[in-house]
Amino acid sequence: MNKPFDIELGQLTGQTSSLGNALTALAGQHATFFLETFGCQMNDHDSEKVAGVLLSRGYRQVETPEAASLILYNTCSIREKAAQKVFSRLGEYREKQSEGKVIGVLGCVAQQEGEEIFKRAPWVSLVCGSASYSKLPEMLTRLEAGNHRVTGLDTDTDETFETEVTRRDNPWRAYLTIIEGCDKACSYCVVPYTRGPERSRASDSILREVQQVAELGYSEVQLLGQTVNSYADPTPRRMRFSELLLAVADVPGIRRVRFTTSHPSDFTRDIVDAIEAEPKLCDHVHLPVQSGSSKVLQAMQRTYSREEYLEKIAMIRAANRPIAITTDIIVGFPGETEGDFEETLSLLDEVGYDSLFSFKYSPRPNTPSLAMKDTIPEEEKSRRLGVLQEKQREIQTARNAVLVGETFEVLVSGKSRRENQWFGYSTSHRVINFASQAKELLGTYVQIRVTGSGPNNLVGEHAV
Ligand code: 5AD
Ligand code: SF4
Repeated sequence: MNKPFDIELGQLTGQTSSLGNALTALAGQHATFFLETFGCQMNDHDSEKVAGVLLSRGYRQVETPEAASLILYNTCSIREKAAQKVFSRLGEYREKQSEGKVIGVLGCVAQQEGEEIFKRAPWVSLVCGSASYSKLPEMLTRLEAGNHRVTGLDTDTDETFETEVTRRDNPWRAYLTIIEGCDKACSYCVVPYTRGPERSRASDSILREVQQVAELGYSEVQLLGQTVNSYADPTPRRMRFSELLLAVADVPGIRRVRFTTSHPSDFTRDIVDAIEAEPKLCDHVHLPVQSGSSKVLQAMQRTYSREEYLEKIAMIRAANRPIAITTDIIVGFPGETEGDFEETLSLLDEVGYDSLFSFKYSPRPNTPSLAMKDTIPEEEKSRRLGVLQEKQREIQTARNAVLVGETFEVLVSGKSRRENQWFGYSTSHRVINFASQAKELLGTYVQIRVTGSGPNNLVGEHAV
Protein backbone atom coordinates (compact mmCIF):
# COMPACT_ATOMS: atom_id res chain seq x y z
CA MET A 1 0.00 0.00 0.00
CA ASN A 2 2.97 2.27 0.25
CA LYS A 3 3.38 4.32 -2.83
CA PRO A 4 6.59 6.17 -3.64
CA PHE A 5 7.02 9.47 -1.90
CA ASP A 6 4.94 11.97 -3.70
CA ILE A 7 4.86 15.33 -2.05
CA GLU A 8 3.31 18.24 -3.74
CA LEU A 9 5.71 21.09 -3.86
CA GLY A 10 4.40 24.53 -4.60
CA GLN A 11 1.18 23.02 -5.79
CA LEU A 12 -1.50 25.59 -5.33
CA THR A 13 -0.05 28.51 -7.15
CA GLY A 14 3.52 27.51 -7.82
CA GLN A 15 4.35 31.20 -7.78
CA THR A 16 7.72 32.62 -7.06
CA SER A 17 7.56 36.00 -5.44
CA SER A 18 8.97 38.77 -7.56
CA LEU A 19 9.82 40.60 -4.35
CA GLY A 20 11.54 37.57 -2.89
CA ASN A 21 11.62 36.97 0.83
CA ALA A 22 14.00 36.79 3.73
CA LEU A 23 15.01 33.24 2.82
CA THR A 24 15.61 34.04 -0.85
CA ALA A 25 18.00 36.78 0.17
CA LEU A 26 19.72 34.91 2.92
CA ALA A 27 19.33 31.18 2.25
CA GLY A 28 22.06 29.10 3.75
CA GLN A 29 24.13 32.08 4.85
CA HIS A 30 22.56 34.16 7.57
CA ALA A 31 18.98 32.86 7.55
CA THR A 32 17.49 32.47 10.99
CA PHE A 33 14.60 30.38 12.26
CA PHE A 34 12.22 30.49 15.18
CA LEU A 35 10.54 27.19 16.01
CA GLU A 36 7.68 26.88 18.47
CA THR A 37 6.37 23.47 19.47
CA PHE A 38 3.06 22.36 20.92
CA GLY A 39 1.90 18.91 21.93
CA CYS A 40 3.46 15.60 22.84
CA GLN A 41 7.01 14.36 23.29
CA MET A 42 6.94 13.07 19.71
CA ASN A 43 6.36 16.64 18.53
CA ASP A 44 9.11 17.95 20.80
CA HIS A 45 11.51 15.43 19.36
CA ASP A 46 10.39 16.05 15.77
CA SER A 47 11.23 19.70 16.38
CA GLU A 48 14.70 18.70 17.60
CA LYS A 49 15.21 16.94 14.27
CA VAL A 50 13.70 19.77 12.20
CA ALA A 51 16.08 22.17 13.98
CA GLY A 52 18.93 19.79 13.10
CA VAL A 53 17.98 19.90 9.40
CA LEU A 54 17.92 23.71 9.46
CA LEU A 55 21.18 24.05 11.37
CA SER A 56 22.96 21.71 8.92
CA ARG A 57 21.73 23.97 6.17
CA GLY A 58 23.38 27.01 7.72
CA TYR A 59 20.35 28.47 9.47
CA ARG A 60 20.76 29.90 12.96
CA GLN A 61 18.11 29.38 15.65
CA VAL A 62 16.77 32.50 17.36
CA GLU A 63 14.57 33.02 20.41
CA THR A 64 11.91 35.34 18.99
CA PRO A 65 9.80 35.47 15.81
CA GLU A 66 10.97 39.09 15.41
CA ALA A 67 14.58 37.97 14.97
CA ALA A 68 13.73 35.16 12.51
CA SER A 69 13.53 35.00 8.74
CA LEU A 70 11.69 31.65 8.96
CA ILE A 71 8.96 31.14 11.58
CA LEU A 72 7.88 27.55 12.12
CA TYR A 73 5.05 26.33 14.27
CA ASN A 74 4.94 22.61 15.11
CA THR A 75 1.31 21.93 15.94
CA CYS A 76 -0.90 19.51 17.87
CA SER A 77 -4.48 18.52 17.06
CA ILE A 78 -5.12 15.81 19.65
CA ARG A 79 -7.84 17.93 21.28
CA GLU A 80 -9.83 20.82 19.86
CA LYS A 81 -8.30 23.45 22.14
CA ALA A 82 -4.80 22.61 20.98
CA ALA A 83 -5.84 22.90 17.34
CA GLN A 84 -7.63 26.23 17.92
CA LYS A 85 -4.47 27.68 19.40
CA VAL A 86 -2.76 27.26 16.04
CA PHE A 87 -5.02 29.64 14.22
CA SER A 88 -4.87 32.28 16.94
CA ARG A 89 -1.07 32.01 16.89
CA LEU A 90 -1.06 32.25 13.10
CA GLY A 91 -3.16 35.41 13.43
CA GLU A 92 -0.35 36.91 15.51
CA TYR A 93 2.07 36.06 12.70
CA ARG A 94 -0.05 37.73 10.07
CA GLU A 95 1.97 40.94 9.94
CA LYS A 96 5.23 39.09 9.77
CA GLN A 97 4.95 37.99 6.17
CA SER A 98 4.75 41.57 5.00
CA GLU A 99 8.12 42.00 6.68
CA GLY A 100 9.45 39.35 4.28
CA LYS A 101 9.37 36.56 6.83
CA VAL A 102 8.44 33.05 5.76
CA ILE A 103 5.87 31.26 7.91
CA GLY A 104 5.40 27.49 8.07
CA VAL A 105 2.98 25.16 9.83
CA LEU A 106 4.26 21.70 10.71
CA GLY A 107 2.81 18.70 12.54
CA CYS A 108 -0.68 17.39 13.16
CA VAL A 109 -2.76 20.49 12.35
CA ALA A 110 -0.79 20.88 9.12
CA GLN A 111 -1.68 17.31 8.18
CA GLN A 112 -5.28 17.62 9.30
CA GLU A 113 -6.13 20.95 7.71
CA GLY A 114 -3.80 20.65 4.70
CA GLU A 115 -4.19 23.34 2.07
CA GLU A 116 -7.15 24.81 3.99
CA ILE A 117 -4.46 26.57 6.01
CA PHE A 118 -3.45 28.60 2.95
CA LYS A 119 -7.07 29.71 2.60
CA ARG A 120 -7.54 30.62 6.26
CA ALA A 121 -4.06 32.10 6.64
CA PRO A 122 -2.75 33.08 3.19
CA TRP A 123 0.40 34.50 4.79
CA VAL A 124 1.58 30.90 5.42
CA SER A 125 4.03 29.49 2.84
CA LEU A 126 4.71 25.96 4.13
CA VAL A 127 2.28 23.30 5.34
CA CYS A 128 3.97 20.03 6.22
CA GLY A 129 2.77 17.00 8.19
CA SER A 130 5.16 14.84 10.21
CA ALA A 131 5.11 11.96 7.73
CA SER A 132 6.74 14.27 5.16
CA TYR A 133 9.59 15.64 7.27
CA SER A 134 12.17 13.51 5.46
CA LYS A 135 11.47 15.74 2.43
CA LEU A 136 12.10 18.96 4.36
CA PRO A 137 15.40 19.76 2.61
CA GLU A 138 13.60 19.78 -0.76
CA MET A 139 10.79 21.88 0.65
CA LEU A 140 13.30 24.36 2.06
CA THR A 141 14.93 24.64 -1.36
CA ARG A 142 11.54 25.58 -2.78
CA LEU A 143 10.92 28.13 -0.03
CA GLU A 144 14.38 29.61 -0.49
CA ALA A 145 13.59 29.97 -4.19
CA GLY A 146 10.72 32.22 -3.12
CA ASN A 147 7.87 29.73 -3.53
CA HIS A 148 4.79 30.70 -1.54
CA ARG A 149 2.87 27.45 -1.47
CA VAL A 150 4.92 24.47 -0.40
CA THR A 151 3.18 21.39 0.97
CA GLY A 152 4.17 17.99 2.32
CA LEU A 153 0.97 16.19 3.14
CA ASP A 154 1.49 12.59 2.13
CA THR A 155 1.04 10.01 4.88
CA ASP A 156 1.06 6.92 2.71
CA THR A 157 4.76 6.37 3.04
CA ASP A 158 7.13 3.90 4.63
CA GLU A 159 9.80 6.50 5.31
CA THR A 160 10.92 7.45 8.79
CA PHE A 161 12.43 10.82 9.64
CA GLU A 162 16.11 10.44 10.49
CA THR A 163 18.58 13.30 10.48
CA GLU A 164 22.36 13.67 10.44
CA VAL A 165 22.10 16.34 13.10
CA THR A 166 19.54 16.57 15.91
CA ARG A 167 19.57 19.69 18.04
CA ARG A 168 18.61 18.21 21.42
CA ASP A 169 16.88 20.44 23.99
CA ASN A 170 17.37 18.20 27.01
CA PRO A 171 21.04 17.99 27.96
CA TRP A 172 20.61 14.83 30.06
CA ARG A 173 18.06 12.73 28.25
CA ALA A 174 18.25 11.92 24.54
CA TYR A 175 14.95 11.18 22.81
CA LEU A 176 14.95 8.77 19.86
CA THR A 177 11.99 7.87 17.66
CA ILE A 178 11.84 4.12 16.99
CA ILE A 179 8.38 3.91 15.44
CA GLU A 180 6.26 6.55 13.73
CA GLY A 181 2.52 6.66 13.04
CA CYS A 182 -0.13 4.34 14.47
CA ASP A 183 -2.00 1.32 13.11
CA LYS A 184 -4.49 1.15 15.97
CA ALA A 185 -7.86 2.72 15.38
CA CYS A 186 -9.04 4.14 18.69
CA SER A 187 -12.33 5.73 17.80
CA TYR A 188 -11.56 9.15 19.38
CA CYS A 189 -8.04 9.63 18.05
CA VAL A 190 -6.71 11.72 15.16
CA VAL A 191 -3.19 10.31 15.29
CA PRO A 192 -3.66 7.57 12.66
CA TYR A 193 -4.84 10.33 10.30
CA THR A 194 -2.27 12.96 11.17
CA ARG A 195 0.80 10.79 11.61
CA GLY A 196 -0.07 8.08 9.14
CA PRO A 197 0.46 4.32 9.29
CA GLU A 198 2.97 2.63 11.58
CA ARG A 199 6.59 2.66 10.35
CA SER A 200 9.33 1.09 12.44
CA ARG A 201 12.89 2.26 12.14
CA ALA A 202 15.70 -0.21 11.37
CA SER A 203 17.23 -1.57 14.59
CA ASP A 204 20.82 -0.95 13.39
CA SER A 205 19.98 2.71 12.72
CA ILE A 206 18.51 3.04 16.24
CA LEU A 207 21.53 1.40 17.85
CA ARG A 208 23.91 3.62 15.84
CA GLU A 209 22.13 6.71 17.14
CA VAL A 210 22.21 5.40 20.71
CA GLN A 211 25.99 4.96 20.32
CA GLN A 212 26.29 8.50 18.97
CA VAL A 213 24.36 10.05 21.86
CA ALA A 214 26.32 7.99 24.38
CA GLU A 215 29.56 9.28 22.83
CA LEU A 216 28.18 12.81 23.18
CA GLY A 217 27.81 12.17 26.92
CA TYR A 218 24.11 11.27 27.26
CA SER A 219 23.58 8.48 29.76
CA GLU A 220 19.78 8.34 29.53
CA VAL A 221 17.78 7.62 26.40
CA GLN A 222 14.04 7.58 25.88
CA LEU A 223 12.66 5.58 22.97
CA LEU A 224 9.56 7.16 21.47
CA GLY A 225 6.54 6.00 19.52
CA GLN A 226 2.76 6.44 19.69
CA THR A 227 2.66 2.70 20.34
CA VAL A 228 6.32 2.17 21.08
CA ASN A 229 5.92 -1.49 22.04
CA SER A 230 4.34 -2.34 18.67
CA TYR A 231 7.88 -1.92 17.27
CA ALA A 232 8.55 -4.34 14.40
CA ASP A 233 12.15 -4.32 13.19
CA PRO A 234 12.09 -4.05 9.37
CA THR A 235 15.61 -5.55 9.02
CA PRO A 236 16.37 -9.29 8.65
CA ARG A 237 17.44 -9.21 12.30
CA ARG A 238 13.73 -8.90 13.24
CA MET A 239 14.55 -7.71 16.76
CA ARG A 240 11.64 -7.84 19.15
CA PHE A 241 10.93 -4.69 21.13
CA SER A 242 12.23 -6.34 24.33
CA GLU A 243 15.44 -7.39 22.54
CA LEU A 244 15.89 -3.85 21.28
CA LEU A 245 15.51 -2.54 24.84
CA LEU A 246 18.25 -4.89 26.03
CA ALA A 247 20.52 -4.00 23.10
CA VAL A 248 20.08 -0.27 23.81
CA ALA A 249 20.88 -0.83 27.51
CA ASP A 250 24.04 -2.67 26.42
CA VAL A 251 25.53 0.33 24.60
CA PRO A 252 28.58 1.56 26.57
CA GLY A 253 27.81 4.74 28.51
CA ILE A 254 24.04 4.18 28.72
CA ARG A 255 22.75 4.00 32.30
CA ARG A 256 19.01 4.49 31.85
CA VAL A 257 16.58 3.46 29.13
CA ARG A 258 13.00 4.73 29.05
CA PHE A 259 10.25 4.14 26.50
CA THR A 260 6.83 5.65 25.86
CA THR A 261 3.93 5.20 25.03
CA SER A 262 3.02 1.52 25.41
CA HIS A 263 -0.24 0.06 24.17
CA PRO A 264 -1.73 -2.47 26.60
CA SER A 265 -2.61 -5.01 23.88
CA ASP A 266 1.03 -5.24 22.74
CA PHE A 267 2.46 -5.24 26.25
CA THR A 268 3.87 -8.75 26.47
CA ARG A 269 5.61 -10.68 29.23
CA ASP A 270 9.02 -10.50 27.54
CA ILE A 271 9.05 -6.73 28.16
CA VAL A 272 8.63 -7.31 31.90
CA ASP A 273 11.26 -10.08 31.72
CA ALA A 274 13.68 -7.63 30.08
CA ILE A 275 13.07 -5.01 32.82
CA GLU A 276 13.64 -7.68 35.46
CA ALA A 277 16.86 -8.82 33.83
CA GLU A 278 18.36 -5.40 33.13
CA PRO A 279 18.38 -2.73 35.85
CA LYS A 280 19.27 -0.08 33.24
CA LEU A 281 15.71 -0.44 31.91
CA CYS A 282 13.85 2.08 34.05
CA ASP A 283 11.21 0.82 36.44
CA HIS A 284 8.43 2.83 34.88
CA VAL A 285 5.75 1.86 32.36
CA HIS A 286 3.28 4.37 30.91
CA LEU A 287 0.26 2.24 30.02
CA PRO A 288 -2.76 4.34 28.96
CA VAL A 289 -6.04 2.67 29.91
CA GLN A 290 -8.41 5.52 28.84
CA SER A 291 -11.40 4.09 30.77
CA GLY A 292 -12.17 1.55 33.48
CA SER A 293 -15.40 0.42 31.82
CA SER A 294 -15.24 -2.46 29.33
CA LYS A 295 -18.30 -1.06 27.58
CA VAL A 296 -16.61 2.31 27.02
CA LEU A 297 -13.33 0.62 26.05
CA GLN A 298 -15.20 -1.28 23.37
CA ALA A 299 -16.80 1.92 22.05
CA MET A 300 -13.31 3.44 22.06
CA GLN A 301 -12.03 0.45 20.02
CA ARG A 302 -9.22 -0.02 22.50
CA THR A 303 -8.91 -3.79 21.77
CA TYR A 304 -8.88 -4.88 25.44
CA SER A 305 -11.36 -5.15 28.29
CA ARG A 306 -10.93 -3.92 31.87
CA GLU A 307 -10.11 -7.49 32.92
CA GLU A 308 -7.50 -7.95 30.18
CA TYR A 309 -5.91 -4.65 31.14
CA LEU A 310 -5.80 -5.72 34.79
CA GLU A 311 -4.03 -8.94 33.74
CA LYS A 312 -1.26 -6.80 32.21
CA ILE A 313 -1.07 -4.81 35.44
CA ALA A 314 -0.81 -8.02 37.49
CA MET A 315 2.04 -9.16 35.21
CA ILE A 316 3.92 -5.89 35.82
CA ARG A 317 3.23 -5.92 39.56
CA ALA A 318 4.60 -9.49 39.80
CA ALA A 319 8.05 -8.33 38.62
CA ASN A 320 10.99 -8.83 40.95
CA ARG A 321 11.36 -5.07 41.51
CA PRO A 322 8.66 -2.43 41.85
CA ILE A 323 7.72 -0.83 38.54
CA ALA A 324 5.90 2.53 38.56
CA ILE A 325 2.78 2.56 36.39
CA THR A 326 1.25 5.73 34.92
CA THR A 327 -1.69 6.15 32.57
CA ASP A 328 -3.94 8.38 30.45
CA ILE A 329 -7.70 8.67 31.05
CA ILE A 330 -10.44 10.27 28.98
CA VAL A 331 -13.63 11.28 30.81
CA GLY A 332 -16.96 12.02 29.17
CA PHE A 333 -16.59 9.76 26.13
CA PRO A 334 -19.94 9.50 24.27
CA GLY A 335 -22.24 7.17 26.21
CA GLU A 336 -20.13 7.16 29.40
CA THR A 337 -22.69 6.78 32.20
CA GLU A 338 -22.16 7.65 35.83
CA GLY A 339 -21.73 3.89 36.39
CA ASP A 340 -19.00 3.70 33.71
CA PHE A 341 -17.24 6.63 35.31
CA GLU A 342 -17.44 4.92 38.73
CA GLU A 343 -15.69 1.95 37.13
CA THR A 344 -12.85 4.24 36.08
CA LEU A 345 -12.60 5.51 39.66
CA SER A 346 -12.50 1.99 41.03
CA LEU A 347 -9.80 1.07 38.50
CA LEU A 348 -7.62 3.85 39.92
CA ASP A 349 -7.93 2.22 43.36
CA GLU A 350 -7.31 -1.23 41.98
CA VAL A 351 -4.18 -0.31 40.01
CA GLY A 352 -2.74 2.39 42.26
CA TYR A 353 -1.21 4.55 39.54
CA ASP A 354 1.85 6.60 40.37
CA SER A 355 0.62 9.42 38.16
CA LEU A 356 -1.86 10.04 35.39
CA PHE A 357 -2.80 12.44 32.61
CA SER A 358 -6.53 13.04 32.34
CA PHE A 359 -8.55 14.68 29.60
CA LYS A 360 -12.12 15.64 28.79
CA TYR A 361 -13.28 13.92 25.62
CA SER A 362 -12.93 16.21 22.63
CA PRO A 363 -14.59 15.27 19.30
CA ARG A 364 -12.02 15.29 16.48
CA PRO A 365 -12.38 15.48 12.69
CA ASN A 366 -12.30 12.20 10.72
CA THR A 367 -12.56 10.02 13.82
CA PRO A 368 -15.23 7.28 14.13
CA SER A 369 -16.44 8.64 17.48
CA LEU A 370 -17.45 11.88 15.77
CA ALA A 371 -20.56 10.02 14.61
CA MET A 372 -21.45 9.14 18.21
CA LYS A 373 -23.37 11.91 19.90
CA ASP A 374 -21.18 13.95 22.26
CA THR A 375 -24.08 14.25 24.71
CA ILE A 376 -22.28 14.71 28.00
CA PRO A 377 -22.43 18.41 28.86
CA GLU A 378 -19.16 20.27 29.26
CA GLU A 379 -19.90 20.96 32.95
CA GLU A 380 -20.42 17.27 33.59
CA LYS A 381 -17.14 16.43 31.85
CA SER A 382 -15.42 19.03 34.03
CA ARG A 383 -17.03 17.59 37.15
CA ARG A 384 -15.87 14.07 36.32
CA LEU A 385 -12.39 15.33 35.54
CA GLY A 386 -12.25 17.11 38.92
CA VAL A 387 -13.46 14.04 40.83
CA LEU A 388 -10.95 11.83 39.01
CA GLN A 389 -8.05 14.19 39.65
CA GLU A 390 -8.91 14.54 43.33
CA LYS A 391 -9.04 10.76 43.73
CA GLN A 392 -5.69 10.38 41.99
CA ARG A 393 -4.21 13.08 44.21
CA GLU A 394 -5.17 11.06 47.28
CA ILE A 395 -3.69 7.90 45.75
CA GLN A 396 -0.42 9.65 44.89
CA THR A 397 -0.20 11.23 48.35
CA ALA A 398 -0.49 7.80 49.95
CA ARG A 399 1.84 6.05 47.48
CA ASN A 400 4.54 8.69 47.89
CA ALA A 401 4.23 8.78 51.72
CA VAL A 402 5.35 5.16 52.06
CA LEU A 403 8.60 5.99 50.22
CA VAL A 404 9.89 8.18 53.07
CA GLY A 405 13.09 6.60 54.39
CA GLU A 406 13.96 4.91 51.07
CA THR A 407 17.02 5.86 49.02
CA PHE A 408 16.82 6.50 45.27
CA GLU A 409 19.39 7.15 42.60
CA VAL A 410 18.54 10.53 41.06
CA LEU A 411 19.70 11.98 37.77
CA VAL A 412 20.05 15.66 38.68
CA SER A 413 18.20 17.65 36.02
CA GLY A 414 17.67 21.12 37.44
CA LYS A 415 18.42 23.69 40.05
CA SER A 416 15.59 25.57 41.70
CA ARG A 417 15.67 29.31 42.26
CA ARG A 418 16.18 28.83 45.96
CA GLU A 419 19.83 28.49 46.82
CA ASN A 420 21.34 25.00 47.12
CA GLN A 421 18.08 23.36 45.99
CA TRP A 422 18.19 20.80 43.22
CA PHE A 423 15.82 18.33 41.62
CA GLY A 424 16.07 15.22 39.53
CA TYR A 425 14.32 12.02 38.53
CA SER A 426 14.42 8.56 40.01
CA THR A 427 14.32 5.68 37.51
CA SER A 428 10.60 5.36 38.35
CA HIS A 429 10.33 8.95 37.06
CA ARG A 430 9.47 10.51 40.41
CA VAL A 431 10.58 14.09 40.89
CA ILE A 432 12.84 14.37 43.94
CA ASN A 433 13.84 17.77 45.37
CA PHE A 434 16.86 17.94 47.63
CA ALA A 435 19.29 20.37 49.19
CA SER A 436 23.01 20.21 48.52
CA GLN A 437 25.95 22.57 49.06
CA ALA A 438 27.71 21.05 46.02
CA LYS A 439 28.79 23.58 43.38
CA GLU A 440 27.67 21.61 40.34
CA LEU A 441 25.51 18.52 40.23
CA LEU A 442 23.60 18.90 36.95
CA GLY A 443 23.73 15.75 34.86
CA THR A 444 25.23 13.64 37.64
CA TYR A 445 23.72 10.70 39.50
CA VAL A 446 23.38 11.06 43.25
CA GLN A 447 21.88 8.87 45.98
CA ILE A 448 19.03 10.67 47.76
CA ARG A 449 17.27 9.50 50.90
CA VAL A 450 13.62 10.53 50.97
CA THR A 451 12.68 12.65 54.00
CA GLY A 452 9.28 13.98 52.95
CA SER A 453 6.57 13.58 50.34
CA GLY A 454 3.69 15.32 48.63
CA PRO A 455 1.24 14.22 45.92
CA ASN A 456 3.54 15.27 43.08
CA ASN A 457 7.05 14.99 44.43
CA LEU A 458 9.42 13.68 47.05
CA VAL A 459 11.84 15.65 49.16
CA GLY A 460 15.15 14.24 50.25
CA GLU A 461 18.76 14.70 51.22
CA HIS A 462 22.10 13.24 50.18
CA ALA A 463 22.32 9.70 51.45
CA VAL A 464 25.47 9.00 53.40
N1 5AD B 1 -10.20 13.68 23.39
C1 5AD B 1 -9.62 13.68 24.61
N2 5AD B 1 -8.44 13.10 24.85
C2 5AD B 1 -7.82 12.48 23.82
N3 5AD B 1 -6.65 11.80 23.76
C3 5AD B 1 -6.47 11.39 22.49
N4 5AD B 1 -7.50 11.79 21.71
C4 5AD B 1 -8.36 12.46 22.53
C5 5AD B 1 -9.61 13.09 22.33
N5 5AD B 1 -10.21 13.10 21.12
C6 5AD B 1 -5.80 11.56 24.92
C7 5AD B 1 -5.63 10.06 25.19
C8 5AD B 1 -4.23 9.79 24.74
C9 5AD B 1 -3.56 11.10 25.08
C10 5AD B 1 -2.26 11.35 24.40
O1 5AD B 1 -4.50 12.08 24.68
O2 5AD B 1 -5.77 9.84 26.57
O3 5AD B 1 -3.63 8.69 25.40
FE1 SF4 C 1 -4.32 7.31 19.12
FE2 SF4 C 1 -5.03 4.86 19.94
FE3 SF4 C 1 -2.94 5.16 18.23
FE4 SF4 C 1 -2.71 5.95 20.81
S1 SF4 C 1 -3.05 3.82 20.09
S2 SF4 C 1 -2.08 7.11 18.97
S3 SF4 C 1 -4.79 6.69 21.26
S4 SF4 C 1 -5.10 5.62 17.79
